[in-house]
Amino acid sequence: MESKKLVFVLYATVLSYVAGLYTSNDRIINGGLASPGQFPYVASITENGRHFCGGFIYSSRWVVTAASCIEGKSLNVLNVVVGQLSTINPDVNEQTMNVYTLNIFPGYNSTNKLNDIALIRLTADIQFDEANVDFIVYKEANGLTFGLVMGWGATFEGGLESVNLRYGAVSPYPVVDASSKCGDFLSTEFNFTSTICAGATAATAYPGGSPCQYDEGSPFVQDFVDPDTSKVIPTAVGIFSKNKMCAYGTLEAISVYTRLSVFYPWFLATAGEQPVRSKKDTKGTAR
Ligand SMILES: *[C@@H]1O[C@H](CO)[C@@H](O)[C@H](O)[C@H]1NC(C)=O
Ligand SMILES: *[C@@H]1O[C@H](CO)[C@@H](O)[C@H](O)[C@H]1NC(C)=O
Repeated sequence: MESKKLVFVLYATVLSYVAGLYTSNDRIINGGLASPGQFPYVASITENGRHFCGGFIYSSRWVVTAASCIEGKSLNVLNVVVGQLSTINPDVNEQTMNVYTLNIFPGYNSTNKLNDIALIRLTADIQFDEANVDFIVYKEANGLTFGLVMGWGATFEGGLESVNLRYGAVSPYPVVDASSKCGDFLSTEFNFTSTICAGATAATAYPGGSPCQYDEGSPFVQDFVDPDTSKVIPTAVGIFSKNKMCAYGTLEAISVYTRLSVFYPWFLATAGEQPVRSKKDTKGTAR
């Protein structure tokens, strides 16, 4: 794998230089640059050593991503990289995992991309160190607060994947009624029960941002406060599935995320329970 990564260095360097001529800021779209350990649960899915989708660590053997990411892919050419910030420079905590099986949710519809969820089973265990490589719990979204989406996606519409992990703040859009649109998506193209509609938000301590191409499969993460310990628990609530265009602050940039809580029975049946984190170990500094 390392050699594939190195071959890509030159290519990516040239491309990011070219991209730099056209954009003032390397970004998810807007947003900010991730710091070490900020998102220990995020995964990069690679094909022949090249990043093409995001994901998150469900447990030491399983990673969650979008079905649209892995549909039609051959598992021999795929890897899952965790503990990484840069797609081209080897990171200290990086682990490159081989793929054992690809499990697309049986109800996935590739036409409208509803139920866009998949589980990747690895051939070996990811080693957790809690600080830089860790799993993340998931649950139902809080519709009233913002969260972060992070990934190595493009920095502009039609652009290539980014070298560095980036993130942006997004907020869920309120459910109005069953016929409501999600940005430019019609009610037939998303579903308030099984998806979350969210767009970039500027009203937080974090810079607003929108996911872009190659951010598909990346998690949408919100902070929840543990009532017993008052600690903040970063929690995955969605997986970026689609938007009409990679942009910032426009209707087309409002994005559809697969709502994770809906898939609880399938996660359980396919990948089993998530690891249990003891209260003592809970950090609450994972972002
Ligand atoms: C998939 O989505 C398309 C477009 O909305 C729809 O026409 C089709 O019936 C769906 N397929 C299934 C199996 O539900
Ligand atoms: C929306 O998703 C839910 C849960 O998967 C499903 O029961 C419902 O039929 C869907 N609604 C539409 C209009 O497709």
